[in-house]
Amino acid sequence: MVALPFVLLAAALVEAAPTLPWKKDSDIDIIGTQEHLFPYLAGSAPHFSYPLSYGIPKEVPEQCTIKQVQLFARHGERYPTNGTGAKIAATYAKMANLTAANGSLAFLNNGYEFFIPNSDNFEELTTWENTLDPINPYLGEQDARLHAREFLNQYSDLLNDTTSFAMFTSNSKRVHDTAKFFADALGDKYNVSMQIIDENISSGANTLTPINSCTVYNESENAAVYANYSTAYLKDIATRLNNENKGLNLTTSDALNMFSWCAYEVNAKGYSEICEVFKPEELVYFSYYDDLTSYYMDGPGNSLGKTVGAVNFNASVELLKQSDSLDQKVWLSFTHDTNIVNYLAAVGLFDDGNKLPVSYVPIKNHLYHKSWMVPQGARVYTQLYECSNQTYVRYVVNDVVIPIEKCSSGPGFSCEFEDFITYANSRLNGTNYVSSCEIEKTSNQTELTFYWDYKTKNYNASLLLQ
Ligand SMILES: *[C@@H]1O[C@H](CO)[C@@H](O)[C@H](O)[C@H]1NC(C)=O
Ligand SMILES: *[C@@H]1O[C@H](CO)[C@@H](O)[C@H](O)[C@H]1NC(C)=O
Ligand SMILES: *[C@@H]1O[C@H](CO)[C@@H](O)[C@H](O)[C@H]1NC(C)=O
Ligand SMILES: *[C@@H]1O[C@H](CO)[C@@H](O)[C@H](O)[C@H]1NC(C)=O
Ligand SMILES: *[C@@H]1O[C@H](CO)[C@@H](O)[C@H](O)[C@H]1NC(C)=O
Ligand SMILES: *[C@@H]1O[C@H](CO)[C@@H](O)[C@H](O)[C@H]1NC(C)=O
Ligand SMILES: *[C@@H]1O[C@H](CO)[C@@H](O)[C@H](O)[C@H]1NC(C)=O
Ligand SMILES: *[C@@H]1O[C@H](CO)[C@@H](O)[C@H](O)[C@H]1NC(C)=O
Ligand SMILES: *[C@@H]1O[C@H](CO)[C@@H](O)[C@H](O)[C@H]1NC(C)=O
Ligand SMILES: *[C@@H]1O[C@H](CO)[C@@H](O)[C@H](O)[C@H]1NC(C)=O
Ligand SMILES: *[C@@H]1O[C@H](CO)[C@@H](O)[C@H](O)[C@H]1NC(C)=O
Ligand SMILES: *[C@@H]1O[C@H](CO)[C@@H](O)[C@H](O)[C@H]1NC(C)=O
Repeated sequence: MVALPFVLLAAALVEAAPTLPWKKDSDIDIIGTQEHLFPYLAGSAPHFSYPLSYGIPKEVPEQCTIKQVQLFARHGERYPTNGTGAKIAATYAKMANLTAANGSLAFLNNGYEFFIPNSDNFEELTTWENTLDPINPYLGEQDARLHAREFLNQYSDLLNDTTSFAMFTSNSKRVHDTAKFFADALGDKYNVSMQIIDENISSGANTLTPINSCTVYNESENAAVYANYSTAYLKDIATRLNNENKGLNLTTSDALNMFSWCAYEVNAKGYSEICEVFKPEELVYFSYYDDLTSYYMDGPGNSLGKTVGAVNFNASVELLKQSDSLDQKVWLSFTHDTNIVNYLAAVGLFDDGNKLPVSYVPIKNHLYHKSWMVPQGARVYTQLYECSNQTYVRYVVNDVVIPIEKCSSGPGFSCEFEDFITYANSRLNGTNYVSSCEIEKTSNQTELTFYWDYKTKNYNASLLLQ
């Protein structure tokens, strides 16, 4: 008798269940158990907070009042790009030919379905509509919505007087979709005018993606440096799997592709068996390889990394300076990881002036963790706040306060405003985007103006899968 209500409840659940596409029960066992891997997966796996905090609260100190906030954000969790998707598929094709896979590849015999059966979802954000598993908790769509609620929780006071405001996104579809899900989740109370800024070279400096307009930018100028990084960990992975499976002939490139496979499969379905193939040390070697390539291709190790990032840093500093006279107090911009890496190179938060070594992994002296800076859904906040008639600036990267160490004696380890301007000028000094990037050869847009002229220009570039 007592059991009756439970029987009824169970019957109701059984009736409800078939409306969800059924995969397999094992997802419930695995989902949630792989989050410790995310920091080692090159920022391709789902979002996570910056793993190292000194315990400084990200809320502005009690005695202070927030005056302005800026956000420079990455799109959320996504499928692989066309290029990476094709590489992962080629590696999978080699394994798919095994008649009876063994060892850590045994999962392939257990009803495994490859997560990118075709190219339909390449380049796209992961959403409720395109997820491969209905209980995937890591969707780019949901990440954007949750982020919006966290944003409102901390900063909604800044919207008291301005419920109509502009947001800014590049015209990459996944970037735009992230901004749109974020805007929708703010709720009906807010009236967002979405400004869609073209990534095209013709945008010159007036863009969230200034590296695209810099035709002389050479990402591989230091290829000879990181080419010296040991690939022994990749050989170990390939050899181990080849030994376990007769006829398998994985190369070091296949081993490298398996890390992307792992990360993007988690984005698409919430878990990935291929992630279990790696030993912890192999993940560390891979993660540092990603730091090296990011640092030398797009970060402080590239001769133009900081110069390109200075476009958005300079605009950010101008918004801070003009805070009192600007009605809008909240400046939300969405773009790609590379652009945030460029930007952070200009700000200098993760640049101690020492070039990253390639002959060893600097475990103890290691500031530049790319995946910690720009995981999927990355969020770099600039806070401007006032305490007892003094104004201060501070950065919060993925939920953790990252002080400008030499200028952090203000409340909450912030930098006093005039000192911050001196700091910013010293970082920007010597960078000249327009001349270094020869912008005038391809565009007449030599300044970033969209934050100031969006009301008349109404930026509305067409969305592109890129
Ligand atoms: C898989 O096997 C098929 C048929 O034997 C062969 O044509 C194909 O090249 C193999 N694929 C790979 C990636 O080895
Ligand atoms: C915004 O409104 C809330 C609730 O009405 C109020 O508590 C808060 O002081 C206001 N903040 C500002 C900056 O005006
Ligand atoms: C929403 O913002 C637009 C400007 O982007 C403005 O024209 C419109 O009147 C606003 N609507 C409401 C309901 O505030
Ligand atoms: C950039 O815009 C120009 C002019 O509209 C167009 O011809 C070109 O294809 C665009 N380039 C890209 C990469 O989309
Ligand atoms: C980029 O730099 C590398 C290394 O110096 C050089 O080999 C390559 O030609 C450069 N690429 C371009 C397009 O200048
Ligand atoms: C790569 O390593 C070799 C051997 O240690 C060394 O001679 C060479 O200078 C290194 N190249 C670069 C670009 O660091
Ligand atoms: C896997 O192991 C079984 C049993 O040892 C063996 O028969 C089979 O050939 C192995 N498969 C591969 C691909 O090596
Ligand atoms: C494995 O691949 C390498 C390089 O592609 C090739 O030289 C070798 O013959 C292949 N081995 C087998 C067993 O297919
Ligand atoms: C802040 O500045 C105003 C005007 O300069 C002054 O009247 C006020 O006393 C100051 N308040 C504090 C807490 O210093
Ligand atoms: C900029 O750099 C030049 C040369 O290194 C130096 O003389 C000047 O004082 C610097 N200016 C600022 C504002 O840091
Ligand atoms: C750039 O050129 C276009 C068309 O040639 C013109 O409409 C636009 O006003 C120019 N922009 C600037 C900033 O000069
Ligand atoms: C990826 O492929 C799709 C479909 O073929 C194409 O529309 C898109 O432009 C491609 N994107 C890139 C970045 O190559």
